Amino acid sequence: MKNIGSYPSVRLRRNRKTEWSRRLVRESNLSASDLIWPIFIREGKNIKEPIKSMPGVHRYSIDKVEKLVEKAISKKIPLIALFPNTPVSKKNANGSEALNKNNLVCKALKLIKKNFNEIGLMCDVALDPYTSHGHDGILKNNYVDNDATIKVLVKQSLLQAEMGCDVIAPSDMMDGRIGEIRKSLDKNGFKKTQILSYAVKYASNFYGPFRDAVGSKKSLKSDKKNYQMDFYNSKEALREVALDISEGADFVMVKPGMPYLDIIKLVKDNFKIPVFAYQVSGEYSLIQNAINNNLLNEEAIVESLISFKRAGASAIVTYFADKIVDKLG
Ligand code: PBG
Repeated sequence: MKNIGSYPSVRLRRNRKTEWSRRLVRESNLSASDLIWPIFIREGKNIKEPIKSMPGVHRYSIDKVEKLVEKAISKKIPLIALFPNTPVSKKNANGSEALNKNNLVCKALKLIKKNFNEIGLMCDVALDPYTSHGHDGILKNNYVDNDATIKVLVKQSLLQAEMGCDVIAPSDMMDGRIGEIRKSLDKNGFKKTQILSYAVKYASNFYGPFRDAVGSKKSLKSDKKNYQMDFYNSKEALREVALDISEGADFVMVKPGMPYLDIIKLVKDNFKIPVFAYQVSGEYSLIQNAINNNLLNEEAIVESLISFKRAGASAIVTYFADKIVDKLG
């Protein structure tokens, strides 16, 4: 850095003196357009069920979802992510409920798309909400079989696209699935359906509260370390992203968020593709619990979200989306 001058003629505090001046020189911003709002759906009618592991977040029966969509549209949130809490009775080893055209996600997609088209809908592609063992794919000899899993994920993606899903988001970390999903979407008339690849998804300890929310926590006996990325690595993320771009991803996700800001920046510096960040359930609950205990101010939420924007993220999946949107300029 050249020509920065020196004290006493230079005083960086001058630009920080007033609120208007601080606003004037801001290097990043946060608006409703940066937010992706995850919503948990469940069976039943007229239910808004608190999730213990995520204070302030609820599971909604599908009849309640329309109101949430209206709210998101009126607040200009561009994209909603739907996550199902599947009843245990509908889970099995192959996760076949994922391919049921009347499953929770399909029902919600149909209902929302019938009434609204000014908002995007995104759905995870992975089998963990549907398998009795809680893994994202098909087990063979206790190992998630990559190629057998892709066959099911391709069908799951196609079904979601048929039901009106705008953004297909594979979160399973199988090798080669983006290319296979793209091919099948194109072949079946869904050339315009976007793919958001969870390209860089770490085997993280911060997913705990989410697994409770979708009900896969009790089923999952082991970890996901032989398919999700090892958190000791960063350069490997570039290989994951490069492959997914070459296979046809429209955007890529880095997940979790705050412990992986270096990865967001690394990916952004190396590729021109839009990068999204996922502020995951563990991050949400840590911050929200601290706020509830008066250990943090609410402004900590904006501070956490701005860190993603500084790092280069185009948008952020966050459970704070509906709570924070009114406070943004
Ligand atoms: C499922 C999936 C997970 C999350 C999103 N999709 C959990 C996992 O991989 O076990 C985590 C989200 C969060 O913690 O908020 N494939």
